[in-house]
Amino acid sequence: MEGALTARDRVGIQDFVLLDPHTSETAFMDNLKKRFTEDLIYTYIGTLLVSVNPYKELDIYNKKQMDLYMGVNFYELPPHIYALADNAYHTMLAEANNHFILISGESGAGKTEASKKILQYYAVSCPSTTLLDTVRDRMLVSNPVLEAFGNAKTLKNDNSSRFGKYMDIQFDSQGDAVGGHILSYLLEKSRVVHQNHGERNFHIFYQLVEGGEDDLLHQLGLERDCKHYNYLMQGECANVSSINDKNDWKTVRNALSVIHFDESDIQYLFGVIASVLHLGNVQFDVDKNNHASMNSNAELRWVSKLLGVHVQVLQEALTYRKIEAKSEEVLTPFTVDHAIYARDALAKAIYGRTFTWLVNRINESIENQDSTRKTVIGLLDIYGFEVFFVNSFEQFCINYCNEKLQQLFIQLTLKAEQEEYEAEGIEWEPVQFFNNKIICDLVEEKHRGIISVLDEECLRPGSATDLTFLEKLEEKMGNHPHFVTHKLADKKTRKTLERGDFRLLHYAGEVTYCVVGFIDKNNDLLYRNIKDVMRQSQNAIVKQCFSSLEPDSRKRPETVATQFKNSLLGLTEILMSKEPWYVRCLKSNENKQPGKFDDVLVRHQVKYLGLMEHLRVRRAGFAYRRRYEVFLKRYKPLCPATWPHWRGVPADGVEKLVKHLGYQPDEYKMGRTKIFIRYARTLFATEDAFEICKHELATRIQAKYKGYRAKGEFRKQKEAATKIETCWRGVQARKERERRAWAVKVIKQFIKGYMTRGQAKTTDNSEYLAFVRQSYLNRLRDNLPKTVLDKTTWLTPPPVMAETSEILRKLHYRLMVRKYVRGITPQRKAQLELKGITSVIFKGKKDSYPQSVGVPFVDTRISEQDINVRILQTIRPERIKYSVPVVKYDRNGFKPRERQLILTQAALYLADETKIKQRVTYASLKGISVSNLGDSILILHVTSENPKEKGDMVLQCDHLFEALTKLSVIANKQNAIKVVQGSIKFDIQAGKESYVDFSTGPESMAYKAKNGHLMVVSPRMKAR
Ligand SMILES: Nc1ncnc2c1ncn2[C@@H]1O[C@H](COP(=O)(O)OP(=O)(O)OP(=O)(O)O)[C@@H](O)[C@H]1O
Ligand SMILES: [Mg+2]
Repeated sequence: MEGALTARDRVGIQDFVLLDPHTSETAFMDNLKKRFTEDLIYTYIGTLLVSVNPYKELDIYNKKQMDLYMGVNFYELPPHIYALADNAYHTMLAEANNHFILISGESGAGKTEASKKILQYYAVSCPSTTLLDTVRDRMLVSNPVLEAFGNAKTLKNDNSSRFGKYMDIQFDSQGDAVGGHILSYLLEKSRVVHQNHGERNFHIFYQLVEGGEDDLLHQLGLERDCKHYNYLMQGECANVSSINDKNDWKTVRNALSVIHFDESDIQYLFGVIASVLHLGNVQFDVDKNNHASMNSNAELRWVSKLLGVHVQVLQEALTYRKIEAKSEEVLTPFTVDHAIYARDALAKAIYGRTFTWLVNRINESIENQDSTRKTVIGLLDIYGFEVFFVNSFEQFCINYCNEKLQQLFIQLTLKAEQEEYEAEGIEWEPVQFFNNKIICDLVEEKHRGIISVLDEECLRPGSATDLTFLEKLEEKMGNHPHFVTHKLADKKTRKTLERGDFRLLHYAGEVTYCVVGFIDKNNDLLYRNIKDVMRQSQNAIVKQCFSSLEPDSRKRPETVATQFKNSLLGLTEILMSKEPWYVRCLKSNENKQPGKFDDVLVRHQVKYLGLMEHLRVRRAGFAYRRRYEVFLKRYKPLCPATWPHWRGVPADGVEKLVKHLGYQPDEYKMGRTKIFIRYARTLFATEDAFEICKHELATRIQAKYKGYRAKGEFRKQKEAATKIETCWRGVQARKERERRAWAVKVIKQFIKGYMTRGQAKTTDNSEYLAFVRQSYLNRLRDNLPKTVLDKTTWLTPPPVMAETSEILRKLHYRLMVRKYVRGITPQRKAQLELKGITSVIFKGKKDSYPQSVGVPFVDTRISEQDINVRILQTIRPERIKYSVPVVKYDRNGFKPRERQLILTQAALYLADETKIKQRVTYASLKGISVSNLGDSILILHVTSENPKEKGDMVLQCDHLFEALTKLSVIANKQNAIKVVQGSIKFDIQAGKESYVDFSTGPESMAYKAKNGHLMVVSPRMKAR
């Protein structure tokens, strides 16, 4: 509910104590109406609950709602009857004391509904066991039974309770509902014989006639037709749309078996009901003496049958009155009116006493069996203050009852207020309120009150009438400020009063009573001979009802008003010893119309229920009070010192808080456990501040929360990361450790293997050797020689691989060779073969050989186009094999001449550009000499016997090795080539010799030396 302070603009204020101005009835009404329009039918005045009848089903009484209110602090949720019930229950349990809930309001305001809601709430919310369930069920179903017998349709309410009901629900120390007890007050018996137009008799009559089984009706002599019965038809509305008598009959029948009525009880009970109906149809005739007479009458026979009395005896009792005069009894006959009066009196008496019997019977069935200590919650569903157009004795009693309850209410409220102030150590500030004791006294005071005067008149011998009673009243009450009659009134008031009226100024308003019937109703006379007859009844219920109650039949019974007064006294005592809770029911309109709020009607009820009065008492001192913890919990965000936590005593925190808010000293008081705030506006200002602060706070809290969530998330992730990291590190470390252990093992084995590497294969060295092998092979694979010529690259093998390495090396070279060989062309092969020949001839002999190895041979050095055509023609038949430019040194002067050396199949030719200079057949080529140095001089030794013939040829050829190799192959002269050291002798012509001398020098040259020799100088070559 504190939360709903915020919604006060829309739904009004949930507690009238906070109403500003609290004395304004208009403000009160506005608030009530505002809430009613929103279907909020409940509002508090402190702990008092005001309820406005919505006349429609609201979805606020379901199990979910009950669960919601269970055990929840009173002010935490919107006002509800469940909140009040729950609070009463928990207070009772906590304090182990007795409580009562007083439900009041005018007819149709919803008292009975409220009491049923409370009972249902307890049925659902209290702990249950099988045994308790039985008691609980019985308590629940006692309602429809009592309603059937005690409720009726009136103009105001289709289900109006025509009796007062106080029900104790007993709880054991665990809070289990273990039993109950019902007290009933003043049943409106007159309804049995008379109903106003538009009203009905008690429901049970219609239920029996409409719903009773055929057999049962037959047994009871009843027809299924309400119109048949006088007692049911006076109001002329046996059928009411809102009431389903047939269904209600089933409910009641079922309830009776739940309550454990046996068949005979039920038989007798319906016998009584039927007998009343028959009695209402009993008619009287007038005999010649003007006395009432009765002929054999079917209805009478049914009455006699059902009540188990002799028909004659019954007939006599209904038509004669027995008067005891001295020692003898005299029978005086009735007039018809008298007889009817006696008949009706009997019907009322039977019904009224049966009702009391029924209540007792229900009490037996819900009575708690064990005698341990119980605490109780009493539910008082009593008739509210009533003002009709004509008000009679019943209204007088009812309004008196309300007057008493109001007095009790004021006393208890004031007492509670005073006690709270005292408990809280706050000075009591006297409250101005109207004390209605003066009216209670006016009605009930001994010897002087209205009831005493009425009793006196009733008991007085002689002809007392209603009017003599009124006169007595005027005599006695003449000056009383709350009493007025036509005679006593001033001129103006007199106009509003009839002569037979008296008016009381009740606390709730004026009510004018018509005295007609007061004496009779108060006497409730039942002639003694009729009682005697009833005492002999064979109907167990009737017999019991009439015998037990009046042991001394001679003594005059107490009048109805006195009985009622005494029962109210008893009730007051019961209530005074308990803690009170109040439900004030208001009727929203007279037409039972949903959603209609009749201002005038509600305002009137607000007034006579004393709600403003109650509010004034509650507000006399302080509008609002709350326990320090509760107050602090709600408003602590408003003060930096108390937000977010107040670490000290709550009272100090509250003090700090209100000082911070700027409360003036007269605006509040600090009690022992509560803060008292004098004005509602102070609280509202605080609440408004809180509202603003709440939004800011919400944002802050939201941000904080988000941050907190994010942080949490981050922390979680971080933790997860650390965890993973730790695990991972662990895994790594384990791996590392294993790796190291493995490494140590391997290294050890390696070392051992290394040390024993030279020994035969053992377990110790086998792995090492395998490793060495593998490692060597791997390394070897990456470092193999790339060419066949590379003879140096081969990796030096470890000893264990020496043999293998050699094999591999050979294999590899063979492979390379094979690859090489497969890769070379026939031309190249031919050339290499030539090179091979060259090598055989010159390798290691001539210094310039090594340089020539890499220079490939060509087929020829001079193409045929470059050879003179005539020469070509001459030698072509011999097929030219090779030709190369050379320098020929003259044999005498050693003059160098450019020549072409042409090799054919048959001979070699030396030619210049125009003609062949010399032809030498291969047969005549006797030798070829070259020096061992780096020069390119070759000397062709020719056989010449004829001195005219040219001698040996001294030639210089740049392609010396190529030319000589070709020549040696073509002429098959490999062995004819000589490599000579020093000088070479040659024949200039037959018989004439010269020499070519060879030496080394800085540059190549050839010249005729002084000694006449050809001197050939060549640079020194690096010997290979
Ligand atoms: N809380 C409620 N919700 C819906 N309807 C209600 C509520 N309270 C009362 N009513 C309606 O009002 C009618 C009268 O209520 P109820 O019988 O409780 O009145 P009462 O105060 O006991 O009257 P009486 O004094 O005549 O016994 C009910 O039959 C029901 O239709
Ligand atoms: Mg009622």
